[in-house]
Amino acid sequence: MDAFTGRTAVITGAASGIGLALAQRAAREGMRLVLADINAAQLEEATRALPATDEAPLTLRIDVSREEDIARLADAAFSRFGAVHLLCNNAGVGLTRLSWEQTAADWEWILGVNLWSVAHAVHHFVPRMLAQTDESRIVNTASVAGLLSTPAMAAYNVSKHGVVTLSETLYAELAAQQAKVGVSVLCPAWVPTAIHNSERNRPERFGSAAPPSAASAAYHARMDQAVKSGRLTADDMASAVFDAVAAKRFYIIPHARIKQAVRLRMEDILEDRNPTPLPEKR
Ligand SMILES: NC(=O)c1ccc[n+]([C@@H]2O[C@H](COP(=O)([O-])OP(=O)(O)OC[C@H]3O[C@@H](n4cnc5c(N)ncnc54)[C@H](O)[C@@H]3O)[C@@H](O)[C@H]2O)c1
Repeated sequence: MDAFTGRTAVITGAASGIGLALAQRAAREGMRLVLADINAAQLEEATRALPATDEAPLTLRIDVSREEDIARLADAAFSRFGAVHLLCNNAGVGLTRLSWEQTAADWEWILGVNLWSVAHAVHHFVPRMLAQTDESRIVNTASVAGLLSTPAMAAYNVSKHGVVTLSETLYAELAAQQAKVGVSVLCPAWVPTAIHNSERNRPERFGSAAPPSAASAAYHARMDQAVKSGRLTADDMASAVFDAVAAKRFYIIPHARIKQAVRLRMEDILEDRNPTPLPEKR
């Protein structure tokens, strides 16, 4: 897909960070917008500050971990605009805890928001996108955590590895059908956003995370610092996404240096070596 003007973009997690940057870029491209987030007030504020578009964006408060909310998002997008050309499954949350400190509720929250959301979106959007005559593309936001295994982020890593393999599976299925629907997977390293403060969006039904041990708190402080000092911005992620969509490229890995660590992991696997520890700085 290389023409964006007048086409429809659906973006989840659009109130903040990478999702907001995607919404800003889509607005500048003259796209029609459907923006969703769990934080309705922040979404409304962010939407008001977007570059003007011909038609007012449609905004929805949804919890992406709930199938009925994703179904409602798809219904709203198709009934308002008739077609979806760019679907960014972007909303996500993280939690830094040693694996044995992550509770069942932590896992359910993180897998729900990061992975089940994408599975629900594939189920509710893809059949309707396949029925369209226009080309379209799905961009799933995974992470380099979907290609590597960073300590103290077990549920997050599992969720993002899941998003990568779900995207690869979908790619193979769509390619086999020569479908006009394409898919890409975005795998950023550290980007300065509010991701390190994900607990702010934790729905009540998952309760609160237990206080971290000293070891988990130290990992969290390092993660916090790494996110804040990320060299590429959310706008850089949006540029990388739009370039990849135009070029119909599957893997979107904007932090080029991280590929060394991915290569090393693959070599560890192929050469029967134990996992090489990841460098602190990426
Ligand atoms: N920032 C990074 O370093 C980084 C790196 C790799 C991947 N990512 C991924 O990028 C995506 C965007 O995160 P970000 O960094 O912009 O963080 P962010 O916290 O700034 O934005 C995430 C957005 O998702 C929304 N959200 C959270 N839970 C939700 C739910 N249940 N339903 C609907 N919306 C919900 C939040 O309200 C927020 O607006 C996530 O999938 C994240 O895992 C971020």
